[in-house]
Amino acid sequence: MSEDKQNIIDLVCAVHGEISEKAAAVSTLMAAGRLEGFWSKADNVFYLLRKLTVEHFRREEILLEIIERDERLGPGQMEYFAEVRREHGEMLKSFEDIRRLGADYDKGDAGAIRGLAGKLSELTKFIFSHAEKEDKELFPFAREFLSDKQLSELQARISEL
Ligand SMILES: [Fe+2]
Ligand SMILES: [Fe+2]
Repeated sequence: MSEDKQNIIDLVCAVHGEISEKAAAVSTLMAAGRLEGFWSKADNVFYLLRKLTVEHFRREEILLEIIERDERLGPGQMEYFAEVRREHGEMLKSFEDIRRLGADYDKGDAGAIRGLAGKLSELTKFIFSHAEKEDKELFPFAREFLSDKQLSELQARISEL
């Protein structure tokens, strides 16, 4: 497999570092400040984290779809990729819940802050464990498994996003 084509997988997974940094920044703000004050500092980093993650999932879903279409996969492997997709769905839902709670808080619902803090804490932990699992399993697998043709398809479809 050519090195050039493998770069497309690097491009998909490279953003994990930035996503984890933003998630850590949200956690640090929550730990450092009083609960009531933290959202005014955290909302910008939250929106950046959300934007990066949503874009990243779109790329990964293309990668997953290309892998899942391959006849060489066994049922156990299919289950693993379905699990990755389920986790994406759960995190996207969590982002929306947080966005709603943040909007309620901004509109003056002081009680929303507890839900906001709890959901953010859950989400950041989920992001770390999901990214770690992919770094250890999904990306090494994709590097080994995908043919040049599949990598070219991935590259073309990502460039269309
Ligand atoms: Fe993912
Ligand atoms: Fe990922």
